[in-house]
Amino acid sequence: MLMRRIKLLNCLGARYSSLHYVTTPIFYVNAAPHIGHLYSAVIADAHCRYQKLRHPAIDVRLCTGTDEHGTKIQQAAASHKVPVDQYCREISSRYREVFQAAHIQNHDFIRTTEERHKQAVAQFWRTLHSRGHIYSAAYSGWYCVSDEVFLTDSQLRLDEASGTRYSLESGHPVEWTEETNYMFRLSQFQDDVRHWVKQEARIRPAKFEKILLDTLSEPLPDVSVSRPSNRVHWAIPVPGDDSQTVYVWLDALVNYLSSLGYPNEKFLTHWPPAQQVIGKDILKFHGIYWPAFLLAAGLQPPQQLYVHSHWTVDGQKMSKSKHNVVDPVQAAQQYTMEGLRYFLLREGVAHSDGNYSHVKALRILNSELADTLGNLLSRACAKSLNPRQVYPQPHAEHLADLLQNVDAAKRLRDTLLQLSERCEAHYECNHFHLVADTTMAALHAANNFFESARPWELKGGAEGANEPRLATIIAMTMDALRLCGIVLQPIIPQLATRLLDKLSVPVSQRGWDCLNENFARDSSGNSTRSRHQLDGQSSAMLFQRIMEEKDKSVQQKPQPQPQSPQAKQSKSKKERLKAAISNTTTTTTTTS
Ligand code: MSP
Repeated sequence: MLMRRIKLLNCLGARYSSLHYVTTPIFYVNAAPHIGHLYSAVIADAHCRYQKLRHPAIDVRLCTGTDEHGTKIQQAAASHKVPVDQYCREISSRYREVFQAAHIQNHDFIRTTEERHKQAVAQFWRTLHSRGHIYSAAYSGWYCVSDEVFLTDSQLRLDEASGTRYSLESGHPVEWTEETNYMFRLSQFQDDVRHWVKQEARIRPAKFEKILLDTLSEPLPDVSVSRPSNRVHWAIPVPGDDSQTVYVWLDALVNYLSSLGYPNEKFLTHWPPAQQVIGKDILKFHGIYWPAFLLAAGLQPPQQLYVHSHWTVDGQKMSKSKHNVVDPVQAAQQYTMEGLRYFLLREGVAHSDGNYSHVKALRILNSELADTLGNLLSRACAKSLNPRQVYPQPHAEHLADLLQNVDAAKRLRDTLLQLSERCEAHYECNHFHLVADTTMAALHAANNFFESARPWELKGGAEGANEPRLATIIAMTMDALRLCGIVLQPIIPQLATRLLDKLSVPVSQRGWDCLNENFARDSSGNSTRSRHQLDGQSSAMLFQRIMEEKDKSVQQKPQPQPQSPQAKQSKSKKERLKAAISNTTTTTTTTS
């Protein structure tokens, strides 16, 4: 019955395109969240927010969560002398807290230790088994515990001195393992997976499609999908054979189904995922194993894998041993969480590694969010220039004059005319850095215009004679700010909301279509938005410049706020957790 319905819905796939299911990887709980993890989540969140902004009728669903089974989780809990279930719970809640603080709008947060997920994995296993894709075999090979994967000789490096072999890709040590396992007939899906990978825009950026096709040019070996329970007991038992547990990657990948309620048929309304965001290190699992598992179970593989590269810190790979792992909570204390979101999406590009540095973060946030965006809002709302605190309407005559005679006004109009189309094209490809670039270019044009128009020279003229021209300049500047605020909502949702609140833009007028209403599209000045009051409750101070440590020392320190008993209690709990994982979360020392 289920299979018949799956076939039908697979054929009708197009009908369900109004549903947009997006996932992040689920995060290992063997260490606390760092900015790389947050990056995966922020990409997925910005993508979903854009989809909702651009296509308000579609039902967008974002799922994230934590990956809690396997040897390395067992080992991490043991090394901290904490029961493994408690360890998982505590680290998992750290991820949840960080994502909440970063305003990730996930609809579900799944943990692989939840009952709903265990049942989904058991059913998925039974489906693969009953369709003849799983068999039992003696297996031996080099196993890498850190990466939870068997490796072939060509994927290893031998350290002659110690005799230890290491994974070429991750650098982690491997151990020789001989055991009886269940195997999945991956080899039978080689052609189907290749066909899937080659579909238009299936794997983005395209360089990762090439990497997958290179891997697929060699014969795929079958893959072990279980481990003896006495080796890996912190895992889901194989249905009908307690002596084996399900391979952690098969377990983990099924989370994308369990979040939708699989095996209950209702999961089909959202299946397949429109986009799955992953880091480059887990490409093989998502680009080869995952489509093969799904095809074997009679399900459609995802419509797109969006693969991002990694963050390095001051040019070095982030690692516990180098003590350079950046904690997002600490980074947000310096930059604010919105600042951190902006920096990650502004500076990160999917196709190559990004470098995280305090100096760079400071430069970008100060020059773009504080000086270019924040400062323009403060100037346009300044009481000295705008004593009635209004978002005025442009006067047709002055608007025409400015557009004809002031070069900076012409440039602003031309930039705004292209803003929506350009940003739409960039958002469609998850090119958030280009959205930020385009928006900043528009704000630079607006700042330039403001400077050239010299509104301060027009204030308080005889009997308000200069008022219409002054109002026109402020209206044009506010239009630029409003448009940029609408466009930036997916990237910096809180700051954009504060900006639009200050300008008193009703929530119903923050959609993508509202980008068309502005002086650049209609220079008569009539059909643009009517004059209205600014929101007196909201501050015009959007983003304060971040000071270098040396500047800070001369500032007065803020007084500590009294804390409620609950706040004290939750803080001490957090402190305890932090201590428990102290050697896995090391914060960057800033190099200002
Ligand atoms: N649990 C697996 C994923 C299972 S999905 C079915 C896993 N977890 S992870 O915690 O190690 O990584 C989660 C995500 O964080 C991956 O997309 C990974 O690429 C990403 N990152 C880990 N380190 C990173 C950086 N230094 N920079 C950017 N992203 C990074 O893999």
